[in-house]
Amino acid sequence: MKILVVGGGGREHAIIRKLRENPEVTEIYALPGNAGIAADAVCVNVKATDIDGIVEFAKGHPVDFAVVAPDDPLALGCVDRLHALGIPCFGPDARAARIEASKVFAKDLMKKYGIPTAAYEVFEDAEKALEYVKGCPLPVVVKADGLALGKGVTICFTRDEAAAAVRACMLDGAFGASGSRIVVEEFLEGPEVSVLAFTDGHVVKPMVSSMDHKRVGDGDVGPNTGGMGTIAPNPCYTPEVAERCMREIFLPTIAAMREEGCPFKGCLYFGLMVTANGPKVIEYNCRFGDPETQVVLPLLKSDLLTIMMAVENGTLADTPVEFSDGAACCVMLASGGYPGKYEKGKAIDLGSAEAMAQVFHSGTARDAAGNLVTAGGRVLGIACTADDLPTAIDRAYAAADQVKWDGMICRRDIGKRALSILEGRQ
Ligand code: AMP
Ligand code: GLY
Repeated sequence: MKILVVGGGGREHAIIRKLRENPEVTEIYALPGNAGIAADAVCVNVKATDIDGIVEFAKGHPVDFAVVAPDDPLALGCVDRLHALGIPCFGPDARAARIEASKVFAKDLMKKYGIPTAAYEVFEDAEKALEYVKGCPLPVVVKADGLALGKGVTICFTRDEAAAAVRACMLDGAFGASGSRIVVEEFLEGPEVSVLAFTDGHVVKPMVSSMDHKRVGDGDVGPNTGGMGTIAPNPCYTPEVAERCMREIFLPTIAAMREEGCPFKGCLYFGLMVTANGPKVIEYNCRFGDPETQVVLPLLKSDLLTIMMAVENGTLADTPVEFSDGAACCVMLASGGYPGKYEKGKAIDLGSAEAMAQVFHSGTARDAAGNLVTAGGRVLGIACTADDLPTAIDRAYAAADQVKWDGMICRRDIGKRALSILEGRQ
């Protein structure tokens, strides 16, 4: 089978590695892929947002199945266009992708169907939003409606901060058109859990839970990033919480999307907060998380392609989705300055990391001489599995310590909170 994978980051690298485990897979095309993916797939220089380019490529090549991994092409209707060519796909169509592409759509869906989430107001008029934040309870959370690379959310502890966040979104265009409409919502407290789930629109099969580390600095300080590291499973996701999530959130969400005439097929990512009043949805993503995928898929025991095809065919009920009982840790290595300005083109020395861990490439390229160089903010994800979490963390850091480039940064405390939760239970 020949598979087309849209995307070119660490998440796609982890997906491609897993797809390759199926002996039926003879060729994988990655659009655009990256320097690390090039060892596992044929990289084609078409951007993930160039939907016409992707369609042209698919027309000219024998593609049996497509996986559209990033949010932008999903929101732009990449799956709809590939379906029109008769190519089976893993991923939601554009109407179902609104669950991530529009926070207003997601919040209104949850309100209509009684799915637990933070209380909120929607504003399209800056004056009204500014008036509202003069009197609302604090802290308050201001979110741009559309996709904003994970940066469209501001947690405001004072009225001045809230007014500044509203102005940045609505008057200064900090997030472009994504911020012309905003959601202002209640601040929730509690540990966060990421749950990725396969769904064919009817049946939902959650994957092993995970924990992202979104802030750039140790101890969860500094600005938000795309994610500086992950562990799985997440100790806050107890069997009781899981059961409540299935009953109060997962099944109602899938049913709501069907009811709205846009059944969701693919990987639905539930960003959850376990509050004193039970689990609540912080956000939905219409795709695998990055770097959650880098810890979740290495623990998947079942065949990924078989599951993806079952999702597309509506036969997920009959398809096993099994995870190992072990644990995984992924440490992200990033460019100095990230998530702000950073330099590219730094030569990467991998040492013996590849013999010690799965090295997933997020932002790498080859220079003119063929050397591996940095090409993004997040550059590499170093992932290890083990029977238990402490061992997985130790292994991931031992491998990460092999890697060097000028200005490299990484958090030293990935998994530390999870370990202290586990220790507190003993
Ligand atoms: P989002 O892009 O919606 O996932 O938000 C990014 C991060 O902001 C989340 O991972 C949370 O840590 C935080 N956040 C978002 N919404 C809320 C909320 N209502 N209360 C507290 N924290 C929030
Ligand atoms: N790691 C968070 C995300 O993929 O959105």
